[in-house]
Amino acid sequence: MPKNLFSVIPELHSIADPAASGIRVPFVRPVLPSFEALRPAYEEIISTGRLTKGRFVEQFEQAVAKHLGVRHAVAVSSCTIGLMLVYKSLDLTAGNCGSRRRAMEPCPVGSMEPLSRFGIVRSGGRNEPVGEVIIPSFTFLAGPATIVWNNLRPVFIDVDPITTNVVPQAVATAITPRTVAISACHNFGNPCDVAALEAIAMEHSLPLVIDAAHGFGASLHGKPVGSGATAQVFSLSPTKLLVAGEGGVVATNCDCLAHFVRLGREYGNDGSYDALFAGVNGRMPELSAATALAGLDILDTVAAQRREIATLYRSELSHLPGIGFVEGQPGAQSSHKDFSITVDPSQFGMSRDGLRRAMALRGIETRTYYNPPCHKQTAFEHFHDRHRALPATELLAARSISLPIGAHINEAVVAEVCATIANAKSM
Ligand SMILES: Cc1ncc(COP(=O)(O)O)c(C=O)c1O
Repeated sequence: MPKNLFSVIPELHSIADPAASGIRVPFVRPVLPSFEALRPAYEEIISTGRLTKGRFVEQFEQAVAKHLGVRHAVAVSSCTIGLMLVYKSLDLTAGNCGSRRRAMEPCPVGSMEPLSRFGIVRSGGRNEPVGEVIIPSFTFLAGPATIVWNNLRPVFIDVDPITTNVVPQAVATAITPRTVAISACHNFGNPCDVAALEAIAMEHSLPLVIDAAHGFGASLHGKPVGSGATAQVFSLSPTKLLVAGEGGVVATNCDCLAHFVRLGREYGNDGSYDALFAGVNGRMPELSAATALAGLDILDTVAAQRREIATLYRSELSHLPGIGFVEGQPGAQSSHKDFSITVDPSQFGMSRDGLRRAMALRGIETRTYYNPPCHKQTAFEHFHDRHRALPATELLAARSISLPIGAHINEAVVAEVCATIANAKSM
């Protein structure tokens, strides 16, 4: 480990979590550029009163598109809104897949079909979902929520217990004539197998929508994740490596999709004041865009820090029986948005929840993503076919624990967290 590992920390501005009373080691603290770096933009925005639809959103979109290597990066108010607008914008009606293959490829706006053929998700009547979207259950609840909001049905599938991501072959097996889209996630920042998923999506003429909420800071074969699939949708909320406050980005190479997401974030209004479809206010405020724009300058540093902390955690915990780690596919570099381990109670001698309590006694905050998994949540369980077993999902939900990670964590804190885990049974 390089000696100057944590020397960059003072340059990053961490904000104390006001809800952290009694917590000595918070799970996460947002990492922001220094106030000095933000001051000129904030001053301009406040003094001009241009709080929305200004140059900072545009500049941020251009910078992100360049960073990710995509034709379009559309800034939105959150990843959730971005995913909702992507499903809304795609022609997802079962049995009408004419534009799906095209959605995967760049297409000139000039060749755009009428909205009624391309952009509207039609209802099957009486609010019956009209199509199914294949999605892992071991993901954040926003994923299936955005599907249900579009009057589509989530079909939950299992994940690989080691990568925590969907297995492309399992996706292929789950496709039926009712399938209208495939969704995957870069869980914990660990890139999913975009190329294999894209090949399956292309073969079946289905759009591939990737929840890349944890994606900033992650790469595949040396390139930032975000450039494959029909769309990849990022989050910029405070737990992420790139922070806007609240915010999201829809990254796509499809001109039509980008066009409809832009319309959709603006109530569906193209300026004529005649809404073309039911949109939302999904705009990103200028202050948020300016914050994230400056954040792009420190993203590499923030990601490098996380990698160092993850390496330290691994080396300190790998000798403990019953502790498992998330592994990436070859060529994948995780953003380590979360550093999650699994606890096998029979080998470790204690359950995940017991360990969590022991850590809480020492003031160490942890999270148990994703428990319960989506197919067991109140809003979604009725969509789940009980005959479809999801053993890896249930195992991960019962055994995963995410440890504190971020700029507030240094070598000494990692040592303390790991010692607490090693000694938890005797506490
Ligand atoms: C995997 C995943 N998807 C979607 C979201 C939703 O992001 P946002 O809060 O920006 O809507 C999150 C939030 O953390 C997430 O972890």
